[in-house]
Amino acid sequence: MLSTKVEELLNAQIEKEGYSSLLYLSMASWAEEQGYPGISKWLYAQSDEEKGHMLEFIHFVNDRGGKAVIPGLKKPPAEHSGIQEMFNDVMSHEQFITASINDIVAMCIEERDFTTQNWLQGFVSEQIEEEASVQEILDKLKLVGSNNIYMFDRDILGMRTSGTDTAE
Ligand code: FEO
Repeated sequence: MLSTKVEELLNAQIEKEGYSSLLYLSMASWAEEQGYPGISKWLYAQSDEEKGHMLEFIHFVNDRGGKAVIPGLKKPPAEHSGIQEMFNDVMSHEQFITASINDIVAMCIEERDFTTQNWLQGFVSEQIEEEASVQEILDKLKLVGSNNIYMFDRDILGMRTSGTDTAE
C-alpha cells in the first residue's frame, strides 16, 4: 500500500512524464517543420519513451493500491530560437526530472516504502542514461558549430535514443 505522500509524488511524476512527452513531441514537430529529419526522429522517439514512462508510473500506482490521476494537457513552447538552444532546454528538463525522481526516492526512505524505492531505481538509472545521451548531442553540436547543423542532423539520424532497453 502506498502512503498518501508517496502516492501524491508518484501522481505528480505522472504529470511530469506526460509533459515531457508533449514537450519533446512539440520539439519534434518544430524540428520536422524546420527541415531536420534526424533531429525530429530522435525527438519523436524520445516523446514515445516519455509516454512509456508515464504509463509505467500509472500502472505502478494502480497496482500498489493507489489511484493514478491522468493529468490535463499543458501546452509546451511551440517555438525555439535554435537547435543548440532547444537541446539546452532538453538538458535542463532532464535535470529537472532527475531531481524530481530523487525527491520521490527521498520520500520513500522517509516513509519506509522500500518497495517503491526499489522500483524507482530503474528510473534513477534511466536518468543517468538520458542525461548522458543529451550531453553527447550537446558535445556533437559544439563540434559541428552552428554552421553545420545539416551534418549534425545526418549524424543524429543513426543515433538510438537513450534507455530503450531499461525502465520499460
Ligand atoms: Fe522520463 Fe526523460 O525522463
